[in-house]
This record gives sequence, structure tokens and C-alpha cells, in this order.
Amino acid sequence: MKFFRTIIAIILTIFYVHATAQKDNTKMNAFINNLMNKMTLDEKLGQLNLPGAGDIITGQASNSDIGLKIRQGKVGGLFNIKSIEKIKAIQKVAVEESRLKIPLIFGMDVIHGYQTEFPIPLGLSCSWDMALIERTARIAATEATADGICWTFSPMVDIGRDPRWGRIAEGSGEDPFLGSQIARAMVKGYQGDDLSKNNAMMACVKHYALYGAAEAGRDYNTTDMSKVRMYNEYLPPYKAAVDAGVGSVMASFNEVDGIPATGNKWLQTDVLRNQWGFKGFVVTDYTGINEMIEHGLGDLQHVSSLALKAGIDMDMVGEGFLTTLAKSLHQKKVTITEINQACRLILEAKYKLGLFDDPYKYCNEERAKTEIFTKDNLTLARRAAAESFVLLKNKNNILPLQKSASIAIVGPLGDSKANMVGTWAVATDFSKATTLLEGIKNKIENKDHVFYALGSNISDDSIFENRVNVFGKSLNRDNRNAADIIKEAVDISAKADVIIAAVGEVAEMSGESSSRSDISIPKAQRDLLNALMNTGKPVIMVLFTGRPLAIKWEAENIPAIMTVWHPGTEAGNAIADVLFGDAVPSAKLTTTWPQNMGQIPIYYAHKNTGRPLEEGKWFEKFRSNYLDVSNDPLFPFGYGLSYTSFAYTNTTLNKSVIQPNDSVEAKVTITNTGEFDGDEIVQLYTRQMVGSITRPVKELKGFQKIFLKKGEHKQVSFTISSKDLKFYNNSLKYVFEPGNYKIFIGTDSNTANAADCVFQ
Ligand code: BGC
Repeated sequence: MKFFRTIIAIILTIFYVHATAQKDNTKMNAFINNLMNKMTLDEKLGQLNLPGAGDIITGQASNSDIGLKIRQGKVGGLFNIKSIEKIKAIQKVAVEESRLKIPLIFGMDVIHGYQTEFPIPLGLSCSWDMALIERTARIAATEATADGICWTFSPMVDIGRDPRWGRIAEGSGEDPFLGSQIARAMVKGYQGDDLSKNNAMMACVKHYALYGAAEAGRDYNTTDMSKVRMYNEYLPPYKAAVDAGVGSVMASFNEVDGIPATGNKWLQTDVLRNQWGFKGFVVTDYTGINEMIEHGLGDLQHVSSLALKAGIDMDMVGEGFLTTLAKSLHQKKVTITEINQACRLILEAKYKLGLFDDPYKYCNEERAKTEIFTKDNLTLARRAAAESFVLLKNKNNILPLQKSASIAIVGPLGDSKANMVGTWAVATDFSKATTLLEGIKNKIENKDHVFYALGSNISDDSIFENRVNVFGKSLNRDNRNAADIIKEAVDISAKADVIIAAVGEVAEMSGESSSRSDISIPKAQRDLLNALMNTGKPVIMVLFTGRPLAIKWEAENIPAIMTVWHPGTEAGNAIADVLFGDAVPSAKLTTTWPQNMGQIPIYYAHKNTGRPLEEGKWFEKFRSNYLDVSNDPLFPFGYGLSYTSFAYTNTTLNKSVIQPNDSVEAKVTITNTGEFDGDEIVQLYTRQMVGSITRPVKELKGFQKIFLKKGEHKQVSFTISSKDLKFYNNSLKYVFEPGNYKIFIGTDSNTANAADCVFQ
């Protein structure tokens, strides 16, 4: 009886939710129909226009050029304005001085936090902690919406397998399964459970699609890949965001199958809307339409019509829609139905956000005063940073450090506020970030035991530094000669028990238009490391970076290495927490780190080839390998050390033959065998042994982050069904293929701990 009552309750709830959504939609449609009936063609095109903020940034809103356009109904939204007063003033022009009083939507690149900055996304992904990631997005949304912003150009979910590409920093690494989970968590975090709440913001998944596959890692470069690869490896995270209800999508700059994503109907309509059922709007990336002229597809009028017909709804910055679509309509190159559809989707987004009810709902000075950069938000930023640091090496357990030790902090990133937060931090105040030097001083009692020296410039090449530094962040350049700067560092190190070398990349060495062909640590810093090693003191390398680096020499020579990415506002405090053992490292890499540049692209889920090299070997003639480097990565995907150690025992499957529609339970016992309590990220990979197409040698299909006190053990169990083993076959059908599988469970993607089974 109870069972039936529950079933009936569930049916009624589904019916109610459906009916309510229907009613909401009916109301929304009626509202928008009514509004659109009053709109002129120019006003409709105005809604599709997302210009740069231009002179508003520096001047008064209402008498700016943009102010004039807004008054004329030629602007749908604006972005990257940080000023609640300005946003209010501009919104006032829109809703009081334009003919139809349609509110503007205000966007921003809120990529890894608003004012409280969390680690760069690549770093945060290494936490493998979905609840934490969702929480960071929630806080970012709370802060941004308290300051006038209701739309973020995030999450960036481009699969990144080429560390030369600077934007690998903005995504979640190389894996589609993990990337999809993170995409979902971030959309949920930003949008919350009700987009109309005043602390929820609309997310925009980007850059759709394949932007991370730019040839040679050069930003904006050509991409070209098979559809099988797209569907199986590159598209899943975008689809996951769509499935999670993301409100908008940003088209990428690159081409897909010879047609730039911005003009690609197959991508923007066939896949996104028809196959995946996306109902929101699509915005271009910055001047994405205009760039199709350079791509060689025609003049502005032509490429603008191409974009509209492909399914683009909003034109960022380039004003191709605003200036050419009326002519194209007149010449019958586009239809009014296409323009109406785009306009409707923009108005729907504004409606769903509740902007028509209250255009100032995100401009609440009280909230701005009390909800931004709060103590709680900083506490989470500190924890998130500590959870993102990957301990790569810890010879003889040199870490954690004693708080009584005397410490030399040396290196160009040891005391650099401007470079703690990393790429894309539009709204933050860099001066509020803690540096490593400050973090360590905050932690230990005897401040006289802490010494600091610059040690080296970022690079000896000041012209390279100028290229890096177009935004003018301080790089602390010291014009003394390099040997003198090193000598000063070596001298202060003599007073210390241990040296912490703070080296790597400054913030703008990764991110947009920051590709590098050489991803090693610049020579000036390597020279410093060498000199520090020669002191004979223990050296700990704290590596700041926005990408995997080629650090074979460092990995061979320096006893302890921890990569901290760009950790965010609480950088120094979080690093000190981990260095002194107040937090135990648990993060694991979400990208493979190569031994050298020639191995790129290198990723764990590669194919076997017809001539695989035997496990553990370096070279064999007529096998797939190199003469001068083994096939192994320097550090594999999923890798990361702890201060404690974990043993994996008793890996079992509850059955070895799995009947159709059944599932298998894989279990393993994990024991904390070391001296610290700690978290372990347990990973499950599968391999399909025989397929209708070639299949990767391993694919991540599950993971769990577990906490174990020292000496404690736990059984971890995963359930795998045929649904989890589906992939896109050669006809792009999403299929499961029965047959032999291996199930691996281990501490990283290198694990050989496997059990065999047959899925029928
Ligand atoms: C970037 C986007 C960003 C946009 C708006 C572009 O240059 O590619 O990721 O969202 O600018 O700032």
C-alpha cells in the first residue's frame, strides 16, 4: 500500500512540475509574443547585439556612445563592467529611456571566482571534488550577482591535451568523463536550483566546440578531427552542460570540419539543438563573426548571415548582426523567422532571469557590502586551493616541514601578489591575495626565521617578459645581473635549514593568447634552482603554473616538488597549510605531464595501435615508440602523492559474466598505511578488449574521494553497467558492445591492478 502511495505521489509530482513548467512557459510566451509584436526590426537586431563596454568603463554611462545606442534600442547586453553604480546607471538608460524599456543582460568572465578567487580551473579540477567545485561556482555566483552581474562566460569545458596551448589553464584537463562531471557541477553551482533567484546567474558553456584541439597548441589555430573522436572525446563535456540545463553556449573561434564554429550549422543547430535538445541561446566569442572574414568565408554581410543561419543568436562585439542583417533580410539572404527566433531566445533568457520583473535585482548595494569577499568565502578559497595542489615528488618525506625550521623563500613567485590568482580574474583586487612569503610568515611563530630573496627574474629575456605582460601586472623585474641576483639568494639560504623555491609561470604565461612552444621552466629560473641545489640544503620546489610543464630535470634533481597552479586569493595561506602538514595533499593530475615537448600530445586514453610497445620497455624496432625518449609520461593522468600512503588490496568483481541489463560491482579495500590521516582519490578505468572500432587502452569510468585516518581501511565499491560502457561507433550511434572487458582500480591511470569480465 505504502509502495503504491509513493508511486502515486511521484506521478503527481511529475505531473505538477510538468504542468507548472508548462504554465510558466505559456506565461513567458505570451509576454514575449506581446513584446515582439511591438518591436521594430532594428529593435530586434538590437537584442542580438553584445557590444564591448567601450567608453562606459572610463566615463559616464548615460552620455557615452553606448548610452546613446542603448537609448535607441540597439544593445541587448554588455559585459565585463565591474561597478554596481555603472551597471545601475546603464540599466536605467535601458529601462527608462529606450522605447520598449527592455532590460540589458550583464555578463562577465567569472571564471574561477568573482572577487574571492579560487584556483584556476585546471588546478581546481585536480581536487576531483564535485561538491567543492559546485560550491566555488555557487560562491562566485553569489558574489557576482551581488555586484550587478547575472551571466557568466563559464564553464570552459574544452578538452585540453596539448600543454603548449595556454588556455589549458581554463579547463578541466584531458578527460571527457571527469570533464563532464565538472561541467555539470559548475552549471549547477552558477545557476542554482532556480535561475530567477537574485543570487543565481546564467552559465555559458564554452568554447563550443573543440577549441582545445588547436594545432600545435597555437591559440585560435585550425582544428581538424574525425567525428568519432569528436563524439567520444571532445563533445561530451559540452553535452553534459546542456544536459545540466546550461542557459547559454559560446561558439568557439576555431573551425570544425572546415567551417568556423560560429558559422557551422551542423554544430550549432544539428548537434546542439536537434541532437542534444538545447533550448537556450548561443553567443559568439569576441568578434567571432567578423573573424570569419579572415577565415576566408566572405564579407561581413555574408558571414553575419552565415552565423545567423547556423544558429547564432547573439553577436559579441563585432556588430555584424546589427549593421548587416537588415540588408540581408531585404535581399532575402536571411528570413525574419531566423531573426525572430534569435531575438526570442535572448528575451527568454532575460525573462527567466527575472529581469523584466526587476531590472535592478542584481544591484543591491547592501548585498554587495555583505556578500562579497566574506570570511566564509575566503575559508573555502583556502580549502579549495589546498585541495588543488598536486604533490609530485617527496623524496625521503622531506615534506611536511617543521614549524620550528628556518626557511629561505627564494624565487620570482615567492612574493608576487599580482601572480597568485592566475588568468581571467576580471573582478578581483590582486593586492588582497596572500603570497607564499606572507602565508609562511602567518604560519610560523618566529618570523625572524623566514628569509626571502628574488633569486631570479621570470626570464632573462626582458622582451619575452614584455610579451607576457601586456596587462602590466608586476613581474618584479630586477635589472641587476643574473649572477648577482642568484648570489643574494644563495647567501640568504645559508642562514636557513630548508629552501623553498617558488618558480614557474607568472599568471599571464598561460591563458588566452599565451601559447608556448617550449614548456620548460625558463633558463633564468633553472639556473637559480641549480645554484640552490649546489648549496647542499634541502630544496622544495613550489611550482606555479597554468599548464603541465616539461620538468624532467627538476623531477630528477630536486627532492620535493609540489605544483600549486595559480591558487587564487588565499594562495600563500593555503600553500603554507600544506607545506607544514596542517592540510595533507590529496589532489591528482587531470592532465598527463610529458617528459619532453616532443611527446605532445600525450594522454592516458590513447589507442593501442597495431604495433604497441611492450609495457616497461623503452624501444623496439618497428614498434610505436621514439629513439630518444620512452613512451612513458613524466607523471600520468590521475597521479598525485600524499604525506601518507595507501595500499590497494582485494580487488574483486561480484561476477565475471554480466547478463544483459545487469551490472557488476567492483570492490577494493584501501588501507591508509602511512603516518597521516588523508584523502585518496580512487579511480576506476575500463578497457573494451575487442570493439567494432579501435578503443582506448583505458577510460576513466568512476572515481571516489575517500578520507582515511591513519591505519584505517575502507572498502570502496563501484557499479558498472553496460550503459557506462557505451560509445559512439563508426556510424555515430551510441552503442554498447558485448564482449570482454578489463576493469582497473588504482591510484592513477598507470595502474595495472585489473580484473577481467564478460559483458553479455
Ligand atoms: C575569450 C572568451 C571570453 C570573451 C569575453 C574572448 O576573447 O575567448 O573566453 O569569454 O573573450 O571576454
